[in-house]
Amino acid sequence: MQCATSLVYVVPIVKLIATIKLLKYLNCNVHRYYMKKRITLDSVIGIAKENLAGKIQVGFTGLIKTGKKATYLRSEEMLKELTENSGKYVLDSSIDSYSRNDLFFKPISFLERGQFDKLSKMYDILPEAIPTPITKVRNGDGKEIGYIMRKIEGNTMADYLAGLNADIRYRENDRILKELNGYVGKLSANGIGHGDIHERNVIIYNGKPFLVDPFAINDCDSWYMKRDANNLKKLKSTLYD
Ligand SMILES: Nc1ncnc2c1ncn2[C@@H]1O[C@H](COP(=O)(O)OP(=O)(O)O)[C@@H](O)[C@H]1O
Ligand SMILES: [Mg+2]
Repeated sequence: MQCATSLVYVVPIVKLIATIKLLKYLNCNVHRYYMKKRITLDSVIGIAKENLAGKIQVGFTGLIKTGKKATYLRSEEMLKELTENSGKYVLDSSIDSYSRNDLFFKPISFLERGQFDKLSKMYDILPEAIPTPITKVRNGDGKEIGYIMRKIEGNTMADYLAGLNADIRYRENDRILKELNGYVGKLSANGIGHGDIHERNVIIYNGKPFLVDPFAINDCDSWYMKRDANNLKKLKSTLYD
């Protein structure tokens, strides 16, 4: 009898735990599915950029939705828009103490919601390697459309390495990878994985690598940490292929 009574409590608790685990599993897998799609899209954009190289300057653009209007704007244009029409937007904190040239606006897709908070956590652990997060940006409806961070005046790791002579390139790649390994070690010691380390999410400024664009879906960090280790191996081998 006592056993039956305790079962009444135990069974729903076990069910609840199983449901939470299932939801977490689905959450990460949906994310993986979208990332696969994104990687395909990324490679298509990569090919387009390669073909257009030298003919047209391909800049970083983002789809900004403000109310009913959707427009493609570059980061610089969005910053201009923010200062000139500030009434249309809500900032979580003040950007008054920064000059516009110091800032970088990042528009976010729905998969990148939470990226500002993740970047802030990473900044607390690695302030020397993460652009200072400054403010989230919402449109008049309260929808998060992006965030502002400190601009890193450098080149992506891809461009930086491509601009070097072959003999220095290997040495520089090894040196940067050593630094990135250190970053990943510190982040994972704190239970955080970047999740998307590749040559265009690393910016080199004064020889120092900075990390941008981390994956931000909650509860997937153990997967991200594994990915970080793999991505660093890939970065090592791409140069030797
Ligand atoms: N804080 C920053 N300062 C300067 N350039 C940046 C900064 N963050 C991103 N970028 C540049 O913009 C590009 C795209 O930004 P990213 O956050 O990687 O967005 P996406 O989701 O489009 O990959 C990066 O490859 C880098 O060249
Ligand atoms: Mg990126």
